[in-house]
Amino acid sequence: MSTVQKFIDENIQTFENELFDLLKIPSISTDSKHKGDVKKAAEFLIVQLQNIGLDNVTLHDTLRHPIITAEKCPHEDRPTVLIYGHYDVQPSDPDELWITPPFEPTVKDGRVYARGASDDKGQSFTHIKSVQAYMETGTELPVNVKFILEGEEEIGSPNLVPFIKKNRELLSCDMVLISDTSMFGENQPSITYGLRGLAYMEILLTGPNRDLHSGLYGGAVDNPANVLCEIISKLKDKDGVIQVPGFYDDVEELTPEMREAYKQLPFDEEEYKNNLDLKALHGENGYSTLERVSARPTLDVNGLWSGYQGEGAKTVLPAKAGAKVSMRLVPGQYPAKIAKLFADHVKSIAPDTVSVEVVEHHGGHPIVIDLEFYGLKAAAKAFEDIYKKEVLFSREGGSIPIVADFKKVLGVNSILMGFGISKDALHSPNESFSLKDFHRGIKTSARFFELLPEFSD
Ligand code: BES
Ligand code: ZN
Repeated sequence: MSTVQKFIDENIQTFENELFDLLKIPSISTDSKHKGDVKKAAEFLIVQLQNIGLDNVTLHDTLRHPIITAEKCPHEDRPTVLIYGHYDVQPSDPDELWITPPFEPTVKDGRVYARGASDDKGQSFTHIKSVQAYMETGTELPVNVKFILEGEEEIGSPNLVPFIKKNRELLSCDMVLISDTSMFGENQPSITYGLRGLAYMEILLTGPNRDLHSGLYGGAVDNPANVLCEIISKLKDKDGVIQVPGFYDDVEELTPEMREAYKQLPFDEEEYKNNLDLKALHGENGYSTLERVSARPTLDVNGLWSGYQGEGAKTVLPAKAGAKVSMRLVPGQYPAKIAKLFADHVKSIAPDTVSVEVVEHHGGHPIVIDLEFYGLKAAAKAFEDIYKKEVLFSREGGSIPIVADFKKVLGVNSILMGFGISKDALHSPNESFSLKDFHRGIKTSARFFELLPEFSD
């Protein structure tokens, strides 16, 4: 075993403890109350990067949360890998559903439970630790490495796109390495070669100028909550087809070869359903579950509010109602175009008994990565050497908006080397990450750096 791999085995306990310290920081990017915590997580990582001896470790303040960059580029003639990760997390609510508190990392059955354990503190930390293993054993880094870590991924990376446009030279590289996706299953190394895009919208309806007594006014005044339900029910038909005119116009259809590749993946639909305690699945007619969750666009209500939410009953006709709706997009679709189609459609079907506002939140472009890219081949070999199992290539339904911008602005492909699994419960209560995958992730990262020069020749 190489000195680097041995160092990782010998130091894994320390690495875990450091990860737990990072997980204790509630760096929730969407919540302004946690702005200081997001900064604290950034400062924690700055110290990590400085301590392992990287050059130019810098915290860049932005309009909201900081961006961190660092590098170690000893070679003129070897590839440069830009490692991207995010240290912000989703809100932990509903907190009462957590078995152990979200920001008190707890180990049970080989998994660490905490918000951000998998998405993305645990996964992105693997690369810091693998670079550390090279630095501290005095082993020459086989490639040049640069880091870019952000605190705004979970809110659509608003300040990262302008940052990469302004800092092309600082970030110049041959590829981006990202661990922020999932493997196809437990002990099944996988490379994600496609992600969906996103258009995130909010509908706000206003009816009467105040909440009304539902007995005195009900029947004569239209109820924004009822109207909202009617609007939402018209957005999809019973076959799961989205009814926003023009929504599918630019969708790139799956080729017969792509559909065949989906069929070859070892997917157990019964198990998928049972894991979610569902009696039946539902989605767009004519597509398989795997196609529906990765290669087809969707429209989902993510939040819904109106009227009385407290204990017991209150007879009220609410003045307002609102919904947050996200649409996952596939290659061919543009977030801004879809957002406009959605807003126009919602306004056109709303009755004049309410006033309608449609707000566009963040968006992101979908991406599919060329399977012939040499970086993917090196990543696959690294996975196979550590996991001792053949890698699967799959597309996933989640979004990492910056991946498309890395391609557009820096002209480079990303390698989505995820170490998570579906059991990690990303964005849900009781998020967790397997410590075995944390360990194997660090080793895979180190092995990848070692193999990459061979593959780039
Ligand atoms: N890590 C996820 C994305 C992901 C998870 C991709 C699993 C593939 C497999 C990422 O942090 C995330 O949740 N992104 C957001 C982006 C959005 C807020 C712009 C998402 O997909 O909802
Ligand atoms: Zn993430």
